Amino acid sequence: MKIVHTISDLRQSVLDMKKQGAKVGFVPTMGALHAGHGSLIETAVKECDTVVVSIFVNPTQFGPGEDLDTYPRTLEVDAAFCDKLGADLIFAPSADEMYPSEQLTWVEVEKLTDGLCGANRPGHFRGVTTVCTKLFNIVGADIAFFGQKDAQQAAVIRRMVCDLNLPLKIRICPIVREADGLAMSSRNRYLSAEERKRALCLHKALMACREQVMAGQRDANALIDAMKAIIEQDQGEIDYVSIVDIETLEPLNRIEEKALIALAVHIGPTRLIDNIYFDRLE
Ligand code: PAF
Repeated sequence: MKIVHTISDLRQSVLDMKKQGAKVGFVPTMGALHAGHGSLIETAVKECDTVVVSIFVNPTQFGPGEDLDTYPRTLEVDAAFCDKLGADLIFAPSADEMYPSEQLTWVEVEKLTDGLCGANRPGHFRGVTTVCTKLFNIVGADIAFFGQKDAQQAAVIRRMVCDLNLPLKIRICPIVREADGLAMSSRNRYLSAEERKRALCLHKALMACREQVMAGQRDANALIDAMKAIIEQDQGEIDYVSIVDIETLEPLNRIEEKALIALAVHIGPTRLIDNIYFDRLE
């Protein structure tokens, strides 16, 4: 496995792979890799001939007061992890390589970015969509793999690729959880032992919601109130608990068929997100 740090080296390496007719898979990450990223890499390895993983803590998607400076940077460990899973190439650029001068061109997806995480993280999705467009243009992959844990990000990227006719496919892979249900996240490593226990309230709330829906409760407000009560019992500070349409991300009054149940909660200083979705109700 090769690690490259510049756009020209990355382009040359991908060109060499493409000359041999390789189908290129791409897993964009900010590093601090865990089993969730692992499953994206494994899926990419299964579905593509060659797999590029980018590791770049993208400054433009962090707001003031967020964790840009403290975000874990663990390139050596991440590289060994990618190598073991069969990735072929890591692209680990510096911020200067990705943003050599003031960025005056931005990619923004409207509407889908207004609610959920977008409401309390202004500019976050503009940073994500801009860096993903840059990475897609640099890597030139056939398929890019994203995780369902960032459900809003997944919907936004899908829409951007469709609206801008970008020449790649987007594949969304299921959430990977710890044995006790906590969704894998690079930010879990910020949690103290006591916070780690309380962090389970996100999954507990979602499972309770699933049970209530299966038992016939379809009223969104009642479901949201029940989830909030579970989170508050564990002193989780709620950013949002929302029930929205899977594609438009517009709030729903009732769950009739497809619905995304998404939440963001602060456990101590750490902001965690999680979600489940209903595709079809039995
Ligand atoms: O999901 C992430 O890790 C980031 O938002 C991404 C897609 C790598 C863009 O920086």
